[in-house]
Amino acid sequence: MHLRMTQFLMVLAASLAVGCGSGDGDGSTPENDASIETPDSTVVETPEGDETVPEGDAMEPAAEEAKEEVATVPTSLEVTLGEGDLLTGIPGTGPLSDEEIEKWLADPVNHMELEVQLPMGLNVGKIPAGVIEENPLTKAKIELGRQLYFDTRLSSDNTISCASCHHPDKGYAFDTQFGVGVGGQEGGRNSPVSYNRILSKEQFWDGRADSLEAQAVGPIANPIEMANTHEGAVKTLKEIPGYVKQFEAVFDDGVTIDNVGKAIAAFERAIVTGPSAFDYYEQLKPLKALDEEIINEDEDLKAKYDMLMAGAKAKPMSESAERGYKLFFSEKVNCAACHVGANLADEKYHNLGIGMDADEPDLGRFAVTGEEKDKGAFKTPTIRNVEYTAPYMHDGSLKTLEEVVQHYNKGGTPNPWLSDKMKKLDLSDQDVADLVAFMKACSGDFPPIEHARLPE
Ligand code: HEC
Ligand code: HEC
Repeated sequence: MHLRMTQFLMVLAASLAVGCGSGDGDGSTPENDASIETPDSTVVETPEGDETVPEGDAMEPAAEEAKEEVATVPTSLEVTLGEGDLLTGIPGTGPLSDEEIEKWLADPVNHMELEVQLPMGLNVGKIPAGVIEENPLTKAKIELGRQLYFDTRLSSDNTISCASCHHPDKGYAFDTQFGVGVGGQEGGRNSPVSYNRILSKEQFWDGRADSLEAQAVGPIANPIEMANTHEGAVKTLKEIPGYVKQFEAVFDDGVTIDNVGKAIAAFERAIVTGPSAFDYYEQLKPLKALDEEIINEDEDLKAKYDMLMAGAKAKPMSESAERGYKLFFSEKVNCAACHVGANLADEKYHNLGIGMDADEPDLGRFAVTGEEKDKGAFKTPTIRNVEYTAPYMHDGSLKTLEEVVQHYNKGGTPNPWLSDKMKKLDLSDQDVADLVAFMKACSGDFPPIEHARLPE
């Protein structure tokens, strides 16, 4: 109890410190009336909130106009994704009991809207507009999504969960050529990764789902994946009291398939990769170009420089990786023509000729747009943590990163729709090794995560 109060006061202090006057005014005003997500059925009690707001002194430094904002219980919590305990589940061990769930839901902190920062590296990118606003993140929602992601009870025969094809131990993908669903059924596509999805709107190799929410409910009813129906999944969840309690506390309308999608999407957005050797190297570059004096004179700059230097020391770039970096971003090799941006993926669709020599090739993006130019085009995947997710490409046809680079080296597989960015590269064996070393230098830590611990 004590700890919780302290936490609460810290949150309060933090929100007083940053809430007024700083640039976050635009988003916060309208959202504030929604305040803590506490639907009618909720068990959350917030009386302490009113008592502990130290009205007098805390408000002194605040501007008059900020009064209204400050007088209410703080509504948001600042977190950096990838750090802390967002994915480690409700504290404890073994199956989740109803009592543990009730205690968790009763803590108002778990219902505060999270104001998220991306971790170092990914933070050079921006979360697409609307994504968070349409499905605000809270600890309770992320935790519910975590449970659903690992729960095989969402499949028709209780054997398959999302993690069966996107497992944390397999880099959030899987090491089979194709995803393997209920009864050992296989589709024709390799399981892509489910991390860093917070930076993308369109999902699937062909981008046919326009949000993570829309994507998340697909596999449940896909006959070769989880082989259930949405009605079946909702019925199962309604029979598990621990789930019912959580859905009712997190959403206004309890257990629905849309809310399953929202909770899973919230969870997936919290799965991000941490800083890599590449990130420290890249962010140090402009600072290293500065005069040391300039850095030493500016406290913030100096702190940043020291942080980056320490990171670079802990995660150094090998000489091979440095050479690979130069090739990757060079005009001649130019992997960055498509693998670009915070997640090293342009979110666009390209034809590399993968699988295009088959009798009936998978036409990828064409099935979504019907446009000739999209034949055989697939969405550019991320290079971050790619070393953990062999085999590669939409059809899982390339087994190693070396094989992938050799595919580019030969200029792809000829076909009428081949991207004009594909050309023969004349890479030496050393170049190939260097590019692979660079890709491995793009790996960062995954956040700690609880795999089991589901409602009884
Ligand atoms: C049987 C294996 C399997 C299961 C189970 C499965 N997936 Fe997938 N997932 C795949 C495959 C294969 C694709 C790519 C399909 C495509 O592009 O047509 C995919 C695509 C995705 C994507 C898109 C990633 C991107 O880069 O566009 C996300 C996100 C995802 N799955 C999350 C989930 C979630 C959440 C669940 C559980 C509700 C789930 N998957 C269940 C195999 C699976
Ligand atoms: C024209 C855009 C483009 C260029 C240039 C490009 N890529 Fe790709 N990359 C893609 C696309 C699109 C895919 C997925 C293609 C598919 O599955 O059909 C891909 C797939 C990959 C994969 C497999 C990832 C996975 O999860 O399966 C790796 C690794 C990769 N590229 C590395 C590189 C390297 C290294 C270079 C430079 C030598 C490069 N790419 C140049 C667009 C590009």
